[in-house]
Amino acid sequence: HPKALLRSIQEEGDYLKSLESQHIVSSDQFNRNTLLQLFRLAAKYESNPERYSTPLKGKILISAFYEPSTRTRLSFESAWHRLGGDIMSITDRATTGIAKGESLGDVAEMFNNYGDCVVLRDSNENSVQEMMHSLRIPIINAGNGIDEHPTQSLADLYTIFKWKPELLVSAEKKITLGIVGIPNKMRTVRSFLKLLSFFPEIFEEVLIIHDGSNEAIFDENQLEQLQQRGLNVTVTTRFNDSLPNLDVVYINAIAWVGNDYESFGESFILNSQSPLKKDAIILHPLARGEELDTDLDSTAHNWYFAQARGAVFLRMALLTCMSQRMERVMDVI
Ligand code: CP
Repeated sequence: HPKALLRSIQEEGDYLKSLESQHIVSSDQFNRNTLLQLFRLAAKYESNPERYSTPLKGKILISAFYEPSTRTRLSFESAWHRLGGDIMSITDRATTGIAKGESLGDVAEMFNNYGDCVVLRDSNENSVQEMMHSLRIPIINAGNGIDEHPTQSLADLYTIFKWKPELLVSAEKKITLGIVGIPNKMRTVRSFLKLLSFFPEIFEEVLIIHDGSNEAIFDENQLEQLQQRGLNVTVTTRFNDSLPNLDVVYINAIAWVGNDYESFGESFILNSQSPLKKDAIILHPLARGEELDTDLDSTAHNWYFAQARGAVFLRMALLTCMSQRMERVMDVI
């Protein structure tokens, strides 16, 4: 599958250079050409998982996870190791000066002295911005509260193109995607929708499936912006009725709000008895709850494990592109 995707994307231009000088905060920062070239590089890494260069040799990642994570932290750290770099990891803010009232700005000022890049996860959506003001090294948002999780969404879209590379070469092919969740409350869904809107032509329809509670489904202007970019988004509460029409089901049930998580959609359960299309795929950013039955793991619908695996190669591609910036920043220092 990564080789088929590799063949479907021409190597082009200097689009990846735009990533050298960026913090990665939001999915809005990307564009269609940069995404395609990033996916191409990720597919190249994934096609040759044992053979890659070490552009991060001698560089140090500060992996700061102030909120729990299995996949994002370990896949970033795996990607950094595979590219030859070293890592300092913080998995509990209580072990840092933050527990004594130190500001994130001051912590970030110190990070400049210790590493070449920061990957930050925090349940506070303002944390990335607070650190950015003091950082002279790049920061990657690894999930900030209910706001965004841009590298997760990169891995999500990469998975869809690996599953069906022909979406990129034939305007005839269109898919219907169902997203179970609340864009206003779920960072994975918010970031994913932004990336989808760079490729509106591949979607017959994008359905947002929610539980009919009184939650605001979208932020102010969020739906209008997606529609202005040409994405055909509709909203429904009809879960089982929608499933037979979906080519891709993206399900997520967790939103981090403050320092805790809320679980949504208890009424939405996917299992091997669900009325899925025969060749439909299921994506889930994981961790899973009751909504995704393990009896689907051994079926062809299971693309969620491939989604998590591909995230390592996607993050390798992103870090490779950003590594030039790290060089320059160190020179300035
Ligand atoms: N997908 C994701 O963000 O998983 P983790 O919370 O385990 O990092």
